[in-house]
Amino acid sequence: MLSNVIHSLIWVVGILMLLCPAPYAENVFSYEDQKNFTRQFKIRVQRLVCNEAPYKETVLLECRMIFRRNQRSLLCMSLKVPKLYHYVMVQFQLNYKFTTYQTFLIDGKVEGCAYMRHQNKDPVLAYMYGVLKDMIPSVVHPCPLGNKTYTELTMLKEEYAPKSMPAGDYRMDVRFSTKTNVTLFSLQLFFGVRRRGILNSMIEW
Ligand SMILES: *[C@@H]1O[C@H](CO)[C@@H](O)[C@H](O)[C@H]1NC(C)=O
Ligand SMILES: *[C@@H]1O[C@H](CO)[C@@H](O)[C@H](O)[C@H]1NC(C)=O
Ligand SMILES: *[C@@H]1O[C@H](CO)[C@@H](O)[C@H](O)[C@H]1NC(C)=O
Repeated sequence: MLSNVIHSLIWVVGILMLLCPAPYAENVFSYEDQKNFTRQFKIRVQRLVCNEAPYKETVLLECRMIFRRNQRSLLCMSLKVPKLYHYVMVQFQLNYKFTTYQTFLIDGKVEGCAYMRHQNKDPVLAYMYGVLKDMIPSVVHPCPLGNKTYTELTMLKEEYAPKSMPAGDYRMDVRFSTKTNVTLFSLQLFFGVRRRGILNSMIEW
């Protein structure tokens, strides 16, 4: 009962922080400043889904997770992109599983080619850019993109996450599409965040 109240309170505080995003967002989303800090939680990937496949303009060659005992799971993705693109819309959304998945902290979209030419100061975009550049470097590349097979063997690391995150289950959605909204690649990454140590709650968040 009490823990429910605390749980709700923390969510209210979290939502208030989202409503006044400026200093908070910079603090949370400055990826380069944050990635070296040790996290007080562990991330465990549960599932990788490349959704909406088969795609119209690209060929999904591989999309699977390799589970490894006591080590981070590997994420294997390979996509053949025969055409060239000067415009790639990137949409991303982090969802927290409350009873259903609710959008949480990260939700946005950006035209990737323009962004790579002139990175603006938007903290959420800068954060996603930092994460994607580390996680799938072959894709984060000046445009045009394509005429190529992109293959990445990667992992979801704790340092990709904000410095503190509520324990629980999450789903990260990332979708790449063309100017005419044709899906080039779309993935959903399901993962759990668990506290290291015994205090398995959101209190410290
Ligand atoms: C993070 O660590 C790397 C190497 O361990 C170092 O090159 C980099 O300057 C550090 N970044 C910050 C912001 O401390
Ligand atoms: C596609 O890639 C091949 C080999 O990498 C290159 O020879 C060719 O010029 C490229 N085509 C275009 C349209 O860029
Ligand atoms: C773009 O396509 C996606 C999935 O194919 C669809 O869910 C979305 O509504 C489309 N967006 C627009 C603006 O048409």
